[in-house]
Amino acid sequence: MSVRGHAFGIDIGGSGVKGAEVDLATGDLVHERIKVPTPHPATPNAVADAVAKVVAQAGWDGPVGITLPSVVIDGTARSAANIDKSWIGTDARKLFATVLGGREVTVLNDADAAGLAEDRYGAAKDLSGLVMLLTFGTGIGSAVMYHGTLVPNTELGHIEVGGVEAEHRAAASIKDRDGLSYPEWAAEVSKVLITLENLFWPNVFVAGGGISRDFEQWIPLLTNRTPVVPADLKNAAGIVGAALAVSAGIAP
Ligand code: BGC
Repeated sequence: MSVRGHAFGIDIGGSGVKGAEVDLATGDLVHERIKVPTPHPATPNAVADAVAKVVAQAGWDGPVGITLPSVVIDGTARSAANIDKSWIGTDARKLFATVLGGREVTVLNDADAAGLAEDRYGAAKDLSGLVMLLTFGTGIGSAVMYHGTLVPNTELGHIEVGGVEAEHRAAASIKDRDGLSYPEWAAEVSKVLITLENLFWPNVFVAGGGISRDFEQWIPLLTNRTPVVPADLKNAAGIVGAALAVSAGIAP
């Protein structure tokens, strides 16, 4: 089945490969997310099988957008900070298109997808100028959009802040690993945001990732100067952005 004005998005994460059909007029999921556990090791072939399962389960035969937590250039994964290293150099677009019967497929970075979704339907919908989305999870992902145009693969989670990579300082996983309180963790996030705002001068930061659900506990504690707003689309942002990317022909 495929429906005009709809596309299918898949978000590949550390624990699950999640997908759904998306109504592109509203950015709403048409049904509950379908989730298949991420295989371990998460090699390209094993993940591709999981992707095929999600799409088959939905009975969808139209275009599919897919996120990866890595730099993606022309469909090929170029980095693998928090995923299996065997992704580096893999032509992910070709691999997924093959397991999906040769249909139209777009592959893009997970934070870039979230940024596109927040910009079109969510927290950044009515914001103009330079918008910087950061996702706080296992790592820190980034999406930079200027008047709605995405600058892909920015990888700002790897910027050095006080001699330490930003994501090793302030990812949500560091809060869990080191048992940091919200005030302690927010101080680390502030250092990262201050570094970024002094270099890029964004109009606003959008904070995404699972921990943005608890934004009331930490966004008010941030000490940087640029306004920080929580993401709207929560755990659907990657799926929605992937669907949007394939429908709009955005293929970084
Ligand atoms: C990766 C990015 C990714 C981010 C969030 C980082 O470690 O380098 O590509 O967007 O994690 O998953």
